[in-house]
Amino acid sequence: PSLFVYDPAYMQTASCKSEITYLDGGAGILRYRGYPIEQLAEKSTFLEVAYLLLHGELPTTAELEQWRHDVTHHTYIHENMRKRFVDGFHYDAHPMGLFVSAIAALGTFYDGAKDIDDEASRRKQILRLIAKTPTIAAMSYRFSQGLPFNYPENELSYPANFLNMMWKVGNDYQVDPILERAMDILFILHADHEQNCGTTAMRVVGSSHADPYSSAAAAASALYGPLHGGANEAVVRMLSEIGSVENVPAFIDSVKNGEGRLMGFGHRVYKNYDPRATIIKKTAYDVFEVTGKNPLLDIALALEEVALKDSYFVDRKLYPNVDFYSGLIYQAMGFPVEMFTVLFAIPRTAGWLAHWQELLNDKDQKISRPRQWYTGPDERDYVEIGNR
Ligand code: CMC
Repeated sequence: PSLFVYDPAYMQTASCKSEITYLDGGAGILRYRGYPIEQLAEKSTFLEVAYLLLHGELPTTAELEQWRHDVTHHTYIHENMRKRFVDGFHYDAHPMGLFVSAIAALGTFYDGAKDIDDEASRRKQILRLIAKTPTIAAMSYRFSQGLPFNYPENELSYPANFLNMMWKVGNDYQVDPILERAMDILFILHADHEQNCGTTAMRVVGSSHADPYSSAAAAASALYGPLHGGANEAVVRMLSEIGSVENVPAFIDSVKNGEGRLMGFGHRVYKNYDPRATIIKKTAYDVFEVTGKNPLLDIALALEEVALKDSYFVDRKLYPNVDFYSGLIYQAMGFPVEMFTVLFAIPRTAGWLAHWQELLNDKDQKISRPRQWYTGPDERDYVEIGNR
């Protein structure tokens, strides 16, 4: 067609301008609002990073305190969400399916959810979503296990509150500070990643001026797909199937023969070591100090060592990505594989909302409406049913 550029999956198309996240896949660089991911993972907290993504600047002490206070005081969800909505799901509902539905349903509980032109209302909805996603995530897990729900405890930090809602049994339960920090780092690393499938879904749905809950539910639905949020689950399954370090060379040969992929390796944008993978690998050792080593770690290390020296992977620029080690940490912390995508969705909500806000403030942005290259039949006359 002469009028349009044919670009399946928009691989060559910049769909928007954005000031939020910088990604250089060739050099392995990731920055939020200009700050290197390595520095944020070492020095910051998820809540501070969420503020940064949404506001463009790091908060002052007073701004951070106010932000923490505001988020913390929106962590509860309406009792009807739990008693009527969640209890209506089938007993073995997948936690991510429940999470997606609950995010969409949440919007119906708030007057003003649709009032997206009002700055104050918009800020309120953003706070609610960031505050309530850990509550909904923990609730999805507890429901799937038939366990009673733990309410938020607002004196705890954002990650500790989530872990407490997940695992608390009895009044003596205390979140381990090393696991709390590891959870926070994982949240930081997953908070944004420019125009991936989920964020694009957020922008496409948001461009119709749908409310942020419906838009975030669309983004979460995209993340639910195995090609997007499901890779770390696939890594754990792959490592379990390999079974032992001795089987690694044979497995690598089978990948090279086209019998399957080395999950957690390769990336559409990164043609170098994914900077998040480096940080996650280090965090894994901290977590294993507390939980004991995940027995699959040795297999992962052996796979990485062999692949990084093998010309098949070197020539194709296939390096470990964010998912290669994250599943091992989650598993060691006790999360079932079904929760892995939910763990991704909690922090990514901050990124989705930052993009949603940027979209609404962008004067160039119109409702998303790509064109197509029509490949169907030319005009033809309707055929009566008896003549077909
Ligand atoms: N194992 C073996 N070979 C691979 C792999 C892999 N993991 N990834 C790519 N290749 C090969 C592929 O077969 C092709 O070879 P050839 O040129 O001989 O046909 C070449 O490398 C290019 O692959 P591609 O499929 O054209 O690359 P892509 O950019 O479309 O795919 C990917 C990117 C992430 C889908 C792919 O690398 C993959 O399937 N990786 C495994 C799944 C995975 O770990 N996904 C998580 C991605 S990170 C998530 C996030 O950032 O949010």
